Amino acid sequence: MYYPDELVEEIRAKNDIVDVVGSYVRLQKKGSSYFGLCPFHNEKSPSFSVTPGKQMYYCFGCGAGGNVFTFIMEYENYSFQEAIKHLAEKAGVALPEVEYNEEMKKRESRRNRILEVNKEAAKYFYYQLRSEQGKIGYQYLAGRKLTAETMKQFGLGYANQYSDDLVKYLRSKGYSDSVLHDAGLVNVDEKHGMYDKFWNRVMFPIQDVNNKVIGFGGRVMGDAKPKYLNSPETIVFDKSRNLYGLNFARTSRKNNIILCEGYMDVIAMHQAGFNQAVASLGTAFTSGQANLLRRYTQEVLLIYDSDEAGTRAALRAIPILKEAGISAKVVNLKPYKDPDEFIKNLGTEAFQERLDNADNSFFFEIRVLESQFNLKDPEEKTNFHREIAKKLCEFSEEVERDNYLEAVADRYHIGFDNLRKLVINYATKTGLVAQAAKPKSGIKEKKGPEEAAKTVQKLLLTWFTEEPAIFLKVQKYITPEDFTEEMYKKVAVRLFEDLSKQQVNPAAIISMFDNEDEQREAASLFNTKLHELESKQEKENAFKDILMKVKQNSYEHYQNKLGTDVNALQQAIAGKKALEELAKTHISFD
Ligand code: GTP
Ligand code: MN
Repeated sequence: MYYPDELVEEIRAKNDIVDVVGSYVRLQKKGSSYFGLCPFHNEKSPSFSVTPGKQMYYCFGCGAGGNVFTFIMEYENYSFQEAIKHLAEKAGVALPEVEYNEEMKKRESRRNRILEVNKEAAKYFYYQLRSEQGKIGYQYLAGRKLTAETMKQFGLGYANQYSDDLVKYLRSKGYSDSVLHDAGLVNVDEKHGMYDKFWNRVMFPIQDVNNKVIGFGGRVMGDAKPKYLNSPETIVFDKSRNLYGLNFARTSRKNNIILCEGYMDVIAMHQAGFNQAVASLGTAFTSGQANLLRRYTQEVLLIYDSDEAGTRAALRAIPILKEAGISAKVVNLKPYKDPDEFIKNLGTEAFQERLDNADNSFFFEIRVLESQFNLKDPEEKTNFHREIAKKLCEFSEEVERDNYLEAVADRYHIGFDNLRKLVINYATKTGLVAQAAKPKSGIKEKKGPEEAAKTVQKLLLTWFTEEPAIFLKVQKYITPEDFTEEMYKKVAVRLFEDLSKQQVNPAAIISMFDNEDEQREAASLFNTKLHELESKQEKENAFKDILMKVKQNSYEHYQNKLGTDVNALQQAIAGKKALEELAKTHISFD
């Protein structure tokens, strides 16, 4: 369905950003903006701002930003269409009848139907657990020291020993066999027809970040095999893009997320107050999950079983996390196998201590290496040191490499100079000091000239939205063409049109973009942090400085394109002239 721009704008205008965001986040007024704790990443002091004047929000911590639509899309995980619907309803704006094409309509209603039947099944299991015949399940969970409250929070349930009651129940509620099948709730074979997939198991509903039940895990109550039975992937259950417990962990307000393997581990940790725990869904950790986590945290504490398989899994997860810009640490729970056991035996304080002492991924990798050598044997010991040197060469930055060199030499009682020699040796031998410099965090890369050019362009756009009147005084010096980033140019075209009429509406500009990443980027253009400027003089100087830098960058940009771009010559000439004039001009904020 394509909604006309005017309608989109009407819905946006009728949903005040402070009201909408305020219903999810506690906001406090500070000057002309409101501030609160960012719902998109974990933080302890508020860097999330909502500006009624611009009808936008922006987080100075994680860069999340946009207008009411973006907010609803990000917070509720809605598509643009869904956000429109939600906000139209809220503001009492009637939407034209949707004209989904048949295919879309079918798919959408199928999705909803499957989410519905999952919820119905979860409710059924939930009641069974608390009924007479569910006693055995309840006792099992209670025996594992889960409280009634925890069982309730996670919606735990019980699939009884009959293998056709769920099918019967759901059919009686009007669900077709094909829906039951597509939801992964049943098995079908020639002999039995359609029957329940889960029976005689305690049930763990798996929820997405919006608390929708997307699948199930079912555990036997003894030692039978398989221990867990999980729902298959369905159109609502993508195991590589969801994490168990993330619906709770995402608002935990801790500065890390604990990633483990088991449903029971997540639940045990939450019960003990470690409500930032999540688990993968019986499959290996994926980059889709890492990107999902990146929205909520910058640091992940890995807790995998203390056996060989767990170690291997951790070693595989580390580079995936790094790639997504998350730093990884590994928690050592020895001699216990997993968090559930650990907490039961040593309690929460000891567990917290282990979290605090988590090894960063480098030391973890070294620790794994160590276990492969017999350090009593001098030759093997030397080989171990060589391997350490090799790993040290992976740091591209010298300072960082030296810091690790010092730390590891200290920890393993190797002479600093000796180890350093090994490193230099290895580096010269292989001609490699560092493998290509992968950004470690993706966020804190050093600013190159390109970044600097982007920053001043953003600053200028922010200035114009905050001080629209100044635009009229300088419009003869600047054009959208001066914004050398394609997307900034697009924004400038529209913003300059508005500014020439002195009707600034940045939130409407956000709606020009239809994906969240672009909206977020567009929002950042209007929300660059301007320095606190004391005097009028300072303000004028700062503004002129930014304007000149944007012009200078544009001038150089077009100069470099002479000969390849037909407009370049004209732009360069005009740019030069504007720069000369600007240098002589006083721009006054009066
Ligand atoms: P408990 O043994 O009850 O403490 O459960 P746990 O959550 O600690 O499970 P464990 O560490 O043994 O396994 C980790 C995860 O792997 C589970 O939560 C399941 O997602 C998955 N898993 C374990 N066993 C099986 C199995 O037999 N089949 C499948 N498909 N998945 C399993
Ligand atoms: Mn366990």
